Amino acid sequence: MGAAQIKRVLLCRPTHFTVDYIINPHMRPYRVDQPRAMHQWDELVKTLEGLKIKVEVIEQKPDVPDMVFATDQGIVKDGTVLLANFRYPQRAKERVYYRDWFRRHDFRLRALSNVFPFEGGDALLFGDKLLIGTGFRATTATCEELARKLNMDVVPLRLVDPYFYHLDMALLVIDEATAFYYPPAFSRNSQNRLMRIIPNLFLMSAEAANAYAANSFVSGQDIIVHSATPADFHKQLDAQGLRVHQVDVSEFIKAGGGIHCLINTLA
Ligand code: ARG
Repeated sequence: MGAAQIKRVLLCRPTHFTVDYIINPHMRPYRVDQPRAMHQWDELVKTLEGLKIKVEVIEQKPDVPDMVFATDQGIVKDGTVLLANFRYPQRAKERVYYRDWFRRHDFRLRALSNVFPFEGGDALLFGDKLLIGTGFRATTATCEELARKLNMDVVPLRLVDPYFYHLDMALLVIDEATAFYYPPAFSRNSQNRLMRIIPNLFLMSAEAANAYAANSFVSGQDIIVHSATPADFHKQLDAQGLRVHQVDVSEFIKAGGGIHCLINTLA
C-alpha cells in the first residue's frame, strides 16, 4: 500500500499575503509578519524540493491576500483542472489569476456552473472516491454536480464546526485505506459514513486538530506537518511508517490556512 508519490505541485509566492477581511473564525486582520511569512514559505518550498517534488510557482496579485492558498483553486487530475467557485466574493478574483496560469501551462480547464460553490480545500481523494466537505463552503448540490461532471463516486461529509470550515482542516488522508479525523468537526451521520468507508480510521486529538494536524501534506511515505503539532501526533504518524518533516507555518494560520492549503497537487 502507501500513498502515491507526488511529482509536481503549484504554490503561490506570498508577496502580498495579509489578512484584511474575515471569512472564517481564525482570521484576525493585520497581524501578519510578511518577511516571516515569506521565510516560512521558502522553507516549505525547500522541504518539498528535498522530497524530489517539482515546485511550480505562481506570483501573487496584490488585490487577493488569500491567493496563497493554492489548494483551494481547484482539483487537478490527469492534466485537467476543475476550477473553484469561491463562496465569498473576496476570493473570486483568485480564480481568474489561476485560470490564466493553468491555461498558460497547458492544463485543460473545466468548471461547475457558478451556482455551485466549490473550493479545493473541501475536496480530498480517497482511493477512487472524492470526499467533499459540505456546510460552510460546498453544498450537497455541489456534490451531486461533481459526481455528474467527474463521473465519480462523491461522498458528502457534513462539517459542523466553523473552525473546521474546510474538509482539509479535519480529515487527513494517508493512503487508500488510512486516514486520521477529528470527529467533532463532523455531523454524527458523517462520522458514521467515514467509519464505514475508511478501513483504518484513526482519531486525531483536539490538541492536534487545533494545531492544523489535518492540514498536512502526504507524498508516499513522507509527511510535512506544521511544527506546532504535538509530539503525540508525530508518534501516531511514525507508527504508520511515515517520515515526519516539520515546517513552521504560523503566519499563514493567521488567515486560517496551513500546509495542505498552500500546496496544489498537479501530478
Ligand atoms: N482565508 C482563507 C479562507 O477562509 C483560508 C483558506 C484555507 N484553505 C484551506 N484549504 N483550508 O478561505
